[in-house]
Amino acid sequence: SWTTASIIDDTVAAIREQVGDGRAICGLSGGVDSAVAAALVQRAIGDRLTCVFVDHGLLRAGEREQVERDFVAATGAKLHTAHEADRFLAALAGVTDPEQKRKIIGREFIRAFEAATAEIAAGEPVGFLVQGTLYPDVVESGGGSGTATIKSHHNVGGLPEDLEFELVEPLRSLFKDEVRKVGAELGLPAEIVNRQPFPGPGLAIRIIGEVTHDRLETLRAADAIVREELTSAGLDSEIWQCPVVLLADVRSVGVQGDGRTYGHPIVLRPVSSEDAMTADWTRLPYDVVERISTRITNEVAEVNRVVMDVTSKPPGTIEWE
Ligand code: XMP
Repeated sequence: SWTTASIIDDTVAAIREQVGDGRAICGLSGGVDSAVAAALVQRAIGDRLTCVFVDHGLLRAGEREQVERDFVAATGAKLHTAHEADRFLAALAGVTDPEQKRKIIGREFIRAFEAATAEIAAGEPVGFLVQGTLYPDVVESGGGSGTATIKSHHNVGGLPEDLEFELVEPLRSLFKDEVRKVGAELGLPAEIVNRQPFPGPGLAIRIIGEVTHDRLETLRAADAIVREELTSAGLDSEIWQCPVVLLADVRSVGVQGDGRTYGHPIVLRPVSSEDAMTADWTRLPYDVVERISTRITNEVAEVNRVVMDVTSKPPGTIEWE
């Protein structure tokens, strides 16, 4: 539309003005905000932008490919992937406490990002860091109401202050729906533009218990089935998001064929919400729930039970950790 096109033109001009002939980096998370911010900066300064994608090994099936293949194909952006799954798994070994997991992932993320940035800057200095800060984030962080932390959120934006970059924040005056329109107009793939929220710490906070390679594989397989079935039932726009949780420290007895099983439960947590501050559990059609349950118990080894979370927020948060 005209307004979206003019937002793009104005923003690109402002980025050119700010960055001049300097160089910039931008961390990609797989989410819509960082992707749209990067696409705008790419349009403004081309190859003087390098995108950095830290693969922490805690992503869902297909998400790395979405960044490495689809985002790059749509934008032509220069991408540096840091393969850091081993670093994160090693740091998370033996850890079960949710806040502990979040702190470790946040810390390792910064280290991995700094290492990647140092490598990129070794060629030529980088003066600018692109961040996908939205208007509501700007307002929220200016509020300073001093409330207690319920969960320490980790975002690609959570970088230390001693990094000597000037920030470029092309989405600072936009709301989420405007960001999606800009992304679509820039030709980003629908899977990125319409992606539902997914937490920075990824699948690590959806495994209740220690995070291991095998448990990640189990949860990734179950999650892929849930997303596939919700999409093919046409429910994506009705659901805010649907975390899929692996109760790795719980076992229950089951029976399959002639055999007794002793496996883990998978929890479905579909929620409806306007802004994630409050949420209601989504009344999914029973036939969809049945297909999901049958497929998960048939196709995912180690899982012999599927349960539904029917708790609103409050009292339950959307994520289990
Ligand atoms: P909760 O669990 O607090 O989640 O009800 C509210 C929303 O925030 C998302 N979430 C996160 N997003 N980094 C993020 O970028 C995080 O560490 C994080 N933790 C939770 C969650 O998926 C929901 O949309």
